[in-house]
Amino acid sequence: MGVLIKLLVLHLCCIYGINGGSYKVDNSVGYGRTFDGIGAISGGGATSKLLINYPTEQRSQILDYLFKPNFGASLQIFKVEIGGDIQSTDGTEASHMHNSWDENYNRGYEWWMMKEAKMRNPDIKLYGLPWGFPGFLKDAYDRPWGNIQSTADYVVKWVNGARVYHNLTMDYIGIWNESPYNITYIKTLRKSLDNAGFGKTMIIASDQNGWDIAGDATKDAELNNAIFGFGSHYPGTNSTPEAASLNKPLWASEDWSCVDPLVGPGCLARTLNQNYVNGYMTSTIIWNIISSYYYGLPWYNSGIMTASEPWSGHYIVPQNIWVTAHTTQFTSIGWKYLKHGYGVGKLNGGGSYVVLISPDEQDLTIIIETLSHDSSICTRPPLAPYNVVAGQTATFELAGILKQRFTSLNTWYSRIGYYKFPSVSFKNRGPLTIQDGSLSVQLGKDEVWTLSTVKSGFKGSFPSVPGSKRFPLPYIEDFEGYKVGEEPFNLAQQVGSFEVDQINNVKFMKQVVLETPVHWFYCLIGTYNTSLNVIGDYTWQDIRADVAVKLDGENTTDSVYLSVRTTACGCQADIESGLFLFFFPKEQRYLLSSDLLRKNILVSGKVPTVTHDWDVIKLQAKGDHVWGAVNNDMLFNISIPVSISHGWVAVGTYPFGTAYFDDLHINPV
Ligand SMILES: *[C@@H]1O[C@H](CO)[C@@H](O)[C@H](O)[C@H]1NC(C)=O
Ligand SMILES: *[C@@H]1O[C@H](CO)[C@@H](O)[C@H](O)[C@H]1NC(C)=O
Ligand SMILES: *[C@@H]1O[C@H](CO)[C@@H](O)[C@H](O)[C@H]1NC(C)=O
Ligand SMILES: *[C@@H]1O[C@H](CO)[C@@H](O)[C@H](O)[C@H]1NC(C)=O
Ligand SMILES: *[C@@H]1O[C@H](CO)[C@@H](O)[C@H](O)[C@H]1NC(C)=O
Repeated sequence: MGVLIKLLVLHLCCIYGINGGSYKVDNSVGYGRTFDGIGAISGGGATSKLLINYPTEQRSQILDYLFKPNFGASLQIFKVEIGGDIQSTDGTEASHMHNSWDENYNRGYEWWMMKEAKMRNPDIKLYGLPWGFPGFLKDAYDRPWGNIQSTADYVVKWVNGARVYHNLTMDYIGIWNESPYNITYIKTLRKSLDNAGFGKTMIIASDQNGWDIAGDATKDAELNNAIFGFGSHYPGTNSTPEAASLNKPLWASEDWSCVDPLVGPGCLARTLNQNYVNGYMTSTIIWNIISSYYYGLPWYNSGIMTASEPWSGHYIVPQNIWVTAHTTQFTSIGWKYLKHGYGVGKLNGGGSYVVLISPDEQDLTIIIETLSHDSSICTRPPLAPYNVVAGQTATFELAGILKQRFTSLNTWYSRIGYYKFPSVSFKNRGPLTIQDGSLSVQLGKDEVWTLSTVKSGFKGSFPSVPGSKRFPLPYIEDFEGYKVGEEPFNLAQQVGSFEVDQINNVKFMKQVVLETPVHWFYCLIGTYNTSLNVIGDYTWQDIRADVAVKLDGENTTDSVYLSVRTTACGCQADIESGLFLFFFPKEQRYLLSSDLLRKNILVSGKVPTVTHDWDVIKLQAKGDHVWGAVNNDMLFNISIPVSISHGWVAVGTYPFGTAYFDDLHINPV
């Protein structure tokens, strides 16, 4: 009987919100750690590929949602990939040094995006990190530690290129994404940055999972001094006492990665608060900043925003933007968290709160989240079960100078609907009065609240967004509209690096990687010597593509290919996944395979006519038949394996080495 009554009371309390708690907000005991900002990542890899090609009006709107202060996500840190000519998840970002004899600081789109970020928010911090490195830096173990000074020089050149060519100052630099670090390298990088005048560019280490680097730093004073802060990936809101004991900033230097637009906001809200509450982490950096890569690529939709249709201008502003705004629009880098138990902690009924104070102590922000377990499961790591009650009253008791100073707070509210309820995003609920230092909030489940003296909170918007459209056909690309060195917009390089070149007033696209780069540790696709560049629509079925190809000059490849119905992409591009017509001009032969690595050869033979100038490859898939031709000589017309049903058009080479591509035509059939 007693148990039953207890259960009944428990039940009533939780439905009717009798449950509650009182929480001290007090800076007289000192402060916690300094807030370093909320950021997001472009890269790892090629995640912003399609953005630069958007119509300028929508492109500017998207960038406003991401970077403009008091408008949208209002990001405080922007982390970018230092392109390494390697596949780093959704594509390859070009290196500033394809080879030891080459340097170019205008490749790709990260420079452009950093400038757009700075233009909107001059205070945004910039952070660069390599996922891989060009082949000339490779040692016998496929690592970049063969000549550590050369690798440090390579990174310092990028930092210097940012300053010299783009007037960008890099605030932070990393080691090697989610790959083994080398202590000698970290020390060498610090010295090399200092010697080149970049003493203010700080090293974050090591951008791996876990906090092993802190263990090494406790044993090595020089290493400890070289590192500004420890950055861990997907920490699940936890750090270690050892990492915390060194009094360095602890960061979740990559986190989130949610593909599900309904789970994403909940994971984000819980993580942004609890990375500090549980793990003392003062920065959370979200992968990725914008899903601007083709549908069909890995982790599609795992940006805090989605914009993958430059041809239509269509984009999506998910609730992630507004969950981020709950923190970023009411804090600045340099604000202080209060101490645990004095403004930072868990709520009695489940959820968490953090209080941050401006350096001049004139502004105060409280951020509260009550995300339940099922509405906030992140991609990784697993989340242990916990309870959040349906209703609770949280009473914040301001003490000392805070009690004297603050009489009212502006209130912003969101509710994460998940699959169950309609969502509310970043609604201004007006001012809340503080009476005698005390204020109470009725908290439901799956809510995010910001209570702040900051008055500039704003939910930005634009009148309309163009509708979604499919990739337009027919498609023709002759590369004449580009500058030499640019990366063609709609060709999403997966392996190898492709850029526009020119000979005798004719522009074309050239594959430029000559030797196997240092791959990102977890991604072996680049080690197979077969470059890959996809374009179009993942759902294309009946399609014809033509492309002119040429091998010319030094360091050429042996074969070039054209592919239709390919789903080969990302780090798993080696599976059976398309129709690949390889053409070997020197040997005057061809082969058609159903995989990038030519393990499943469907047909092969002689090519009757080879011009050794521009040769034209044609490939058509319609229904269950595929035919191919070189220079109008029909080579085969055979049935297609049933598993090869749809996909992009692609071009590439085997092995690495230069090849030219021009006049790419794609037609529906
Ligand atoms: C770090 O690089 C140096 C120089 O190449 C090498 O001797 C050492 O074995 C490397 N250490 C690790 C842990 O990779
Ligand atoms: C370079 O950027 C700084 C701010 O970081 C600005 O003050 C300066 O005017 C810029 N210089 C040029 C040449 O644009
Ligand atoms: C890649 O190609 C180079 C040069 O053609 C060759 O030396 C190397 O063995 C190849 N590697 C693989 C994995 O095929
Ligand atoms: C070809 O490669 C060699 C090194 O193997 C290099 O010295 C030469 O400059 C390269 N030529 C071109 C045109 O890239
Ligand atoms: C290829 O073969 C199919 C089936 O025999 C036939 O319908 C089609 O016309 C052929 N295409 C060409 C271009 O010869």
